[in-house]
Order: sequence, then C-alpha cells, then structure tokens
Amino acid sequence: MEASAVPIVVLISGNGSNLQAIIDYFESRATIGKVVAVISNRPNAYGLERAKNANIEAICIDHKNFDTREAYDNLLQKQIEHFQPGLVVLAGFMRILTADFVQSFEGRMINIHPSLLPKYKGLNTHQKALDAGDKEHGASVHFVTPDLDGGPVIIQSKVPVFENDNAEELAQRVQEQERNIFPIVVDWFCQKRLTMKNNKAVLDGNELSESGYATD
Ligand code: GAR
Repeated sequence: MEASAVPIVVLISGNGSNLQAIIDYFESRATIGKVVAVISNRPNAYGLERAKNANIEAICIDHKNFDTREAYDNLLQKQIEHFQPGLVVLAGFMRILTADFVQSFEGRMINIHPSLLPKYKGLNTHQKALDAGDKEHGASVHFVTPDLDGGPVIIQSKVPVFENDNAEELAQRVQEQERNIFPIVVDWFCQKRLTMKNNKAVLDGNELSESGYATD
C-alpha cells in the first residue's frame, strides 16, 4: 500500500456493487485511498467474493452468532480497529448500529442510502417513493451519526420516476447513480477535503446544505 493512502474498511451485507465501484475507482488512485478489509454480517454476501477477487481481506462476522446487538457491535468495532482505518464505509450494511459503535467512528464513517434523505429512512425506499407518487427519487451519501439515516448529507443524486416503474426498475436506476457518487465522496474524504463539523458536512471549507453538494 502507498504510504500516503488512507486505509478504508468497507462493511457490506450483500451484493457489493458499491464496494466494487470503490475498489475499481481506487485502482488508479492508489496513493489516495485503499480498501484494506471488507467485513460482512452475512456469510453468503457476494461482496466477500468481490473482495477476495481483488486480494482484499474478506471477513464475515455472522450476526446470528451473537445474543445482543452490543456484543456484535463490540466485536465488529475491534475487528475494524485492527485495520486502523482512516475511513469506514457502509456500503449496503443492513444493520442498525449501537450509539457507542457509531460514536467510536464519528466523523470518519459514511453510508449510502437509497433515497433522497430526509425522505424514506429505513427499508423499502423504492416502494415508498412509488407509493407516494414521487416524480423523482435517488440516493444520498451521508456521515453516520447515532440518528438512524439522519447524519449530515454530503451528496445526493436524483433520478426520474417513470409512470410504469416497479420497485426493481427504480432500484436499478438509483444504484447506477450510487456507483457514480460514492467513490467520489470517498475520494474527497481521503484527500482531507471533506470533514464533519458541528453535525454538518464541510467540503473544501464550505458547509454543505441539507441536501449536500449541489450537482445540478
Ligand atoms: C444499495 O442500494 C444501498 O443504497 C442500500 O443497499 C444497497 C446495497 O447494494 N443500502 C441501504 O439500504 C442502507 N440502509 P450493493 O450491495 O450492491 O452495494
């Protein structure tokens, strides 16, 4: 690993298409950041294969082996800290995290969420956007705070909702955008352009608005 590269630990639960986008992006940016470990809470997550294919350490800590959320998060925290990451990336990690865990990585943990936050926190976001008759939908990258899906937004990407869309089609459209914006945010952070101050995302010294960096 390049001496200057920021070590990144990525947490996943499933397919890992966002993980793949980050791995691919940093192939040509090896002096900026490097994924040093991928941790999944599900043994069959395809993202673990993606990590192995890229010669990245792939670890499963199966949540089914733990009695309490605290016990799980304690071990997860220790495992992450072992890699001394500058940044922890939640890329489809489908677990609610304890406040203690979140606080231990505050300011250096980001998440991607498949909605235009603050709309549709939690699960089934695509169906919720369809049910509400929204004309646009999208994804948000945000700093993680103890407030579930409520941390300061860094960037959003919008997609149109078409009349006959189903949740799966809409998810695909959103996920294509996720793979564009997530690596860019990781890059900003690794270049020390992005920080969290007073519960706000700050890029290049400028506090970002509630919907994050303006791309329109
Ligand atoms: C992504 O769409 C991400 O936004 C979502 O899970 C998917 C993971 O896809 N995350 C959440 O819903 C978190 N609450 P991937 O495994 O292919 O990257």
